Amino acid sequence: MSRITLSQFLIQQQRDGERISADLRFLIEVVARAIKAIGNAVGKGGLTNSLGEAGGENVQGEVQKKLDVIANDILLEANEWGGHLAAMASEEMDLPHQIPHRYPKGEFLLLFDPLDGSSNIDVNISVGTIFSVLRCPEGASSAAEIGEQAFLQAGSRQLAAGYAVYGAATQLVLTVGHGVHAFTLDRETGSFVLTTEFMRVPEDTGEYAINASNARWWEPPVQRYVEELVAGKSGPRGRDFNMRWVGSMVADVHRILTRGGIFMYPKDTKDPAKAGKLRLMYEANPMSLIIEQAGGAASTGHQRILDVQPEKLHQRVPVILGSKNEVERVAAYHQAG
Ligand code: AHG
Ligand code: MN
Ligand code: MN
Repeated sequence: MSRITLSQFLIQQQRDGERISADLRFLIEVVARAIKAIGNAVGKGGLTNSLGEAGGENVQGEVQKKLDVIANDILLEANEWGGHLAAMASEEMDLPHQIPHRYPKGEFLLLFDPLDGSSNIDVNISVGTIFSVLRCPEGASSAAEIGEQAFLQAGSRQLAAGYAVYGAATQLVLTVGHGVHAFTLDRETGSFVLTTEFMRVPEDTGEYAINASNARWWEPPVQRYVEELVAGKSGPRGRDFNMRWVGSMVADVHRILTRGGIFMYPKDTKDPAKAGKLRLMYEANPMSLIIEQAGGAASTGHQRILDVQPEKLHQRVPVILGSKNEVERVAAYHQAG
């Protein structure tokens, strides 16, 4: 079997399909390189002094783990100098990160959740990295400082999105708007090798993912939906459902891309100030583009996630994504009130 590496795949996308420019190809290559470095750091586990808490909180008031900070630094350093970016934004940083003056600036904005599933780091369960690429608006790119405003674009405007999952194998899953493709890191050669082309999320599923400890705070449509799943054969659905919750969105979404399912982090009333837990720009948008590109659906319950007009860089949003028919059912329950 001939092996196609990520580099070859990207060159094909640029040359034959004209789906990406040389600069976007370079950007993805650089992100993939950073992902390899993060995977190495994660893979060292307790051998280095990199487990545990960093001693600070991020802008969202969440405890930062040492590896959150390490992963963030790796992505910043890798992407600063290449001349492909106008600025970066990260879940772990209050404000957009400016490209230092000594380097040239490019046309793209890179957004990332450097380490997703941080609560799983110390227990050796899969974590990951999620990223999203936008074009910097023309007026904004000539400014000395790229402000938050430049990033506030709906998810449908993403040029590329992807995630890495640091599991038993390190995998990189990518879309440039023409299907979703998975690459597996060959640790012997150091290359990402194409292992699944055009991933598809089955339209129907018998598996769901939700943190059920929040059940008493869910809104009625989600309560109704999950109650019906739990009732299984003896309820209105007339069949049994299975439940899985890793607690790392990357791992839960990866399972859904591989064998179907529905993932929900809905709005709840636990903290009325928050519209949900997951972040629109670093988690919901990139994952929604990937899921839609694989034939699935992604909704807040009331609206397609990719159509949400962001108001703040660190904004949170309810997330319901995965197998199309189930996501549409949950949206219909929201409509019914
Ligand atoms: P992060 O580690 O980047 O803050 O993200 C964690 C997210 C997501 O990965 C996961 O689906 C969810 O939080 C888990 O939340 P609970 O701990 O509430 O189950
Ligand atoms: Mn996350
Ligand atoms: Mn994170």
